[in-house]
Amino acid sequence: MISPWLACPEPACPITDPTPLMANSPPTSSPYKGPRPTNPKPRINWTAKRGPLIFKSDESGLLGHSLPMTPPEPLGPKVTGGTTVISVSDEPRIYGGGEGADPALKRVRVRHFGQAKANGIKITGLTSYDFLSARIFDDAGIDFLLVGDSAGNAVFGYDTTLPVTIDELVPLCAAVVRAVRRALVVADMPFGSYENGPEEALHTAIRFMKEAGAHAVKLEGGYRSAKQIRRIVRAGIPVMAHIGFTPQSEHGLGGHIIQGRGEGGAKELMDDALAVQEAGAFAVVLEMVPSEAAAEVTAALQIPTISVGAGPSCDGQLMVWTDWAGFTRGRIPRFVKQYAQIGQTLHDAAVTFREEVEAGVYPASEHEYRD
Ligand code: KIV
Repeated sequence: MISPWLACPEPACPITDPTPLMANSPPTSSPYKGPRPTNPKPRINWTAKRGPLIFKSDESGLLGHSLPMTPPEPLGPKVTGGTTVISVSDEPRIYGGGEGADPALKRVRVRHFGQAKANGIKITGLTSYDFLSARIFDDAGIDFLLVGDSAGNAVFGYDTTLPVTIDELVPLCAAVVRAVRRALVVADMPFGSYENGPEEALHTAIRFMKEAGAHAVKLEGGYRSAKQIRRIVRAGIPVMAHIGFTPQSEHGLGGHIIQGRGEGGAKELMDDALAVQEAGAFAVVLEMVPSEAAAEVTAALQIPTISVGAGPSCDGQLMVWTDWAGFTRGRIPRFVKQYAQIGQTLHDAAVTFREEVEAGVYPASEHEYRD
């Protein structure tokens, strides 16, 4: 399927959380070891012994994870180096609730996207369609998770994203929302759920907010979708826009074709970007466009640009996780970097399992219950 945040600026203030982040942290031999980013954000050290995790706060309200350094302290306002630290537990909880929530984790909010752009901090996103992957990506500090209509291909096995429906996406989105403690969850509005006009678009967005608990929605189209974006935003729902190559229009566009090429293409891309910003989108995905055009749009916009094959100048990068993790077989688009080979790993594990069962090697005595 094609389609392919945050170091903490000053002041960095420790907030101690007495609650282990995960009840069952993976063991030292955890397979979840990706390559280290060049500018790593604070993140969970899977090899750490279970115990209190310390979270670092920053002015923009974003939090990362670090190793335990001090014993647990009571939550509440603290003064560190002359700065009062407000932990999440100090934030007013309107209408109560929050039972069971990790009190030291602050959620990524749409305002943080603008702050990240202003501070030159790159935003990270992955698609996710289920609880398990969402929990791992959230723990890894990925800033937003997109429950993309790419689930049409990756989950449901359709040839394109066109057939997937709201009813199919809502339970996937709800599972992702249940998994995250920090990441912003964006629900993708599928083909046929917003094209008929602003009221249909608002109806769809409300379904994702109410039934799945999404934090924002995404829809495709620039100028042509501006009215829909404006209507949804007016109702208090954040919208991520999506321009350039828009997979729901692949037949109209004549296939998987790079958009924004040449002077005319670049101008159209810029017009679309300005239209969605003006309509109130908090961020815009640029998919499969030349890096030069994406750089110009990124410089011209106040809202962040999120690249899906749009080069390094964008304010953030997003990948379809099944492509990124090496589930996808065959030809993969040029912009996809495979950070793992999970497909091969699962295949090999399944072959070994079958062979061991057939040979009577599994289960061994340590896998048996005895009286
Ligand atoms: O559905 C999806 O995964 C997407 C992204 C690739 C932008 O729309």
